[in-house]
Amino acid sequence: MNVLLIGGGGREHALAWKLAQSPALGRLYCAPGNAGIADVAEPAGLDVADHAAVAAFCTDKRIGLIVVGPEAPLVAGLTDELEAAGIAVFGPSKAASALEGSKGYTKDLCAEYGIPTAAYGRFTDAASAKSYLSGQALPIVVKADGLAAGKGVVIAETRAEAEDAIEACFQGAFGDAGAEVVIEEFLTGEEASFFALVDGETALPLATAQDHKRAYDGDQGPNTGGMGAYSPAPVMTPDLCARVMDEIVLPTVKAMKARGTPFKGVLYAGLMIRDGAPKLIEYNVRFGDPEAQVLMMRLKTDLLPALLATAQGRLGGMTLAWHDDAALCVVMAAKGYPGAYEKGTEIEGLDAESGSDDAVVFHAGTARDGNRILAAGGRVLGVTARGADIAQAQARAYAAVDAIHWPGGFCRRDIGWRAVKRGT
Ligand code: AMP
Ligand code: GLY
Repeated sequence: MNVLLIGGGGREHALAWKLAQSPALGRLYCAPGNAGIADVAEPAGLDVADHAAVAAFCTDKRIGLIVVGPEAPLVAGLTDELEAAGIAVFGPSKAASALEGSKGYTKDLCAEYGIPTAAYGRFTDAASAKSYLSGQALPIVVKADGLAAGKGVVIAETRAEAEDAIEACFQGAFGDAGAEVVIEEFLTGEEASFFALVDGETALPLATAQDHKRAYDGDQGPNTGGMGAYSPAPVMTPDLCARVMDEIVLPTVKAMKARGTPFKGVLYAGLMIRDGAPKLIEYNVRFGDPEAQVLMMRLKTDLLPALLATAQGRLGGMTLAWHDDAALCVVMAAKGYPGAYEKGTEIEGLDAESGSDDAVVFHAGTARDGNRILAAGGRVLGVTARGADIAQAQARAYAAVDAIHWPGGFCRRDIGWRAVKRGT
């Protein structure tokens, strides 16, 4: 079967790497891809925003499955148009993508179905948002309702900071995404990422993972898309996973079906765990990045049939097998990220680890220039390794990081610290 993969980050390189190992795969295409993905997939040369062009490409190349990596094309309705053209798509419809595309939508769904989450208010004007603040405890969380590339969340320590965040949203700091604001109770505890394949009706949990969202060591500095990840997540005991399925994921799957907008794809629940109890922070409607890198390293089962079964509503009875090994991913980012950063700096030493089973360097923001590999984004590489436990995976990942020569980049040196400290 021929497959078209949409996206061009570390997540998509990990998915492409795993799909390329499938005996069921014919040709693998990717749009837009990156310099690493080009080793395992043919560039499709498509404008992903041009849905008609994507559909025409699929017909022309006899694509049997489209795998959509990032959220933006999903929220823009790519799935709906391709399914209307008779093509199987791994990724939810536009309506079901509201679980990520509108934070207020998800909060209302949680309220309606009793799904544990932070207390909240939804607002379409600054005055009522500000008046909600009085009487609320600090810190308090102010969020743009729509997609804001991870930048639309402010944890305000003071009322003045919260008011500034509200003003910024309504003054257009996040464009249309800020036309509505959600204000939330601040949750404390340990964060974890929970993933399940969902085919509209059946949900199949994946292995557990945790990421590090802050830019600098010690979980300090600004929020990012994720500076590293590891799997399994020690905090996610089997009991807790069962609770997340029963209290959060399955009620959501049922609710989406009841609303006539069944969810199909991978549901990513961002969780806060406190005293052994899970609360939903937010949903995403795609794999996490860099969580996908560690999950793909640990997945034993062929990915292609699993994604196809998800797309075709055939997940019932399916199981997934995982390597017992742990996996850990260290993100190398351009200096300055998540603020302004330089593009086009050269990366050397990338071949050192290729061919090794224990470590894989997934490309996120890279471009090829003749024989040179250049940085072309904020997060640039996801150096990922397997080991008997998190500590060994961590040592192997950093050994692979140290083999790379890239003066224009930086990484955290403490990815996985929490798990290593627990001795898992
Ligand atoms: P989100 O984009 O909603 O996942 O928020 C990004 C990050 O902000 C999360 O991963 C959390 O670290 C933090 N965050 C968001 N909402 C809350 C909350 N209600 N309480 C505490 N932290 C939060
Ligand atoms: N690692 C966080 C995300 O993918 O949103």
